[in-house]
Amino acid sequence: MPPTVLVTGGAGYIGSHTVLQLLLGGFRVVVVDNLYNSSETAVQRVKELAARFGGNLSFHKLDLRDGPALEKLFSSTRFDAVIHFAGLKAVGESVQKPLLYFDNNINGTITLLKVMANHGCKKLVFSSSATVYGWPKKVPCTEEFSLVAMNPYARTKLIAEEMCRDQYRADPEWKIILLRYFNPVGAHPSGYIGEDPRGIPNNLMPFVQQVAVGRQPALTVYGTDYSTKDGTGVRDYIHVVDLADGHIAALHKLDESGVGCEEYNLGTGKGTSVLEMVKAFEKASGKKIPLVMAGRRPGDAEIVYASTERAARELKWKAKYGIEEMCRDQWNWASKNPYGYGSPENNR
Ligand code: NAD
Ligand code: UD1
Repeated sequence: MPPTVLVTGGAGYIGSHTVLQLLLGGFRVVVVDNLYNSSETAVQRVKELAARFGGNLSFHKLDLRDGPALEKLFSSTRFDAVIHFAGLKAVGESVQKPLLYFDNNINGTITLLKVMANHGCKKLVFSSSATVYGWPKKVPCTEEFSLVAMNPYARTKLIAEEMCRDQYRADPEWKIILLRYFNPVGAHPSGYIGEDPRGIPNNLMPFVQQVAVGRQPALTVYGTDYSTKDGTGVRDYIHVVDLADGHIAALHKLDESGVGCEEYNLGTGKGTSVLEMVKAFEKASGKKIPLVMAGRRPGDAEIVYASTERAARELKWKAKYGIEEMCRDQWNWASKNPYGYGSPENNR
């Protein structure tokens, strides 16, 4: 029997790409998602992309906070491990509606951990974020940096990380990998799955993509006076397929002895400015992105990029793609699906 992995939030952006890589890697996958920020079409497309492995995927529309439903699922299937993506992720919204974020992200994680414990499933990969480094005093960010939450979203990641560390201390049979993602962008090279955020995107590349397809008039560049090469903010953009592969590496790591509760950065180790990213996207798409230069966005850090050493050494994982491929694949997805999984009439 191939190993069976439960993927929470598997209909979402990173989840759908990871599910595909899992299927192609020979895993059986069960996705649970409440479709709050995603579409079942993504799951259907993953199934098709996985071709002969597509039959190893099943989907349950389920809210993670629904303990009895989760109990039922664990009673019917023995999971070898869980990858936990499900969560809300819009920083601005989390400032407006902190309780929504604590309820969804924290209560969802508590329910999941409880049900896992009840069924003796003690292997977990958790989606954390580089946001736990706050505004880092120096770069690259290493996993030993002190952690700080600058907004309620970040606090949910920090609390969930702490819960995982506490759970491991209480029961060292648990094996937990906390993956701190830097800035995931791009899409599967097929252009069949990609990112489809609800409403007006907050993040750089989904916004750029919407400008390119005519859904937004111009990109606002937040901050031109940073101490960076061209004055704009610098981030570590990582291709979503590389990120997905990082999860497979993490699952393999969970099978090694001596693993407790471990943190790993998933990034490329390279910093790219907003203007460099826009230029790369213009080259890939042949589209001009009109810019409006503006002041800094509150809460934004100046330069954030990852130290990739620990992941390379211990997960034997390294990102393969550069910003050219990220922009090429982002545009391929955008041009084939200008309204994501929806349509102009049904524009989420
Ligand atoms: P996404 O919104 O595309 O995917 C999250 C999925 O979880 C969605 O399909 C949503 O419907 C589902 N979900 C949310 N709450 C749920 C609940 N209570 N029960 C069941 N399903 C629920 O986001 P993503 O970009 O794929 O991010 C996945 C994870 O990675 C999140 O935890 C996010 O915080 C984290 N992360 C994302 C980024 C990023 O830039 N995309 C960076 C760092 C960390
Ligand atoms: C944001 C979140 C962070 C989260 C991460 C990934 C904030 C303050 N931080 O980080 O918590 O983990 O997304 O989901 O929201 N930019 C523009 N114009 C835009 C959008 C962005 O110039 O319309 C710039 C930003 O100022 C930044 C860079 O592009 O310099 C990247 O921004 P973004 O994609 O939002 O990611 P982060 O700021 O790294």
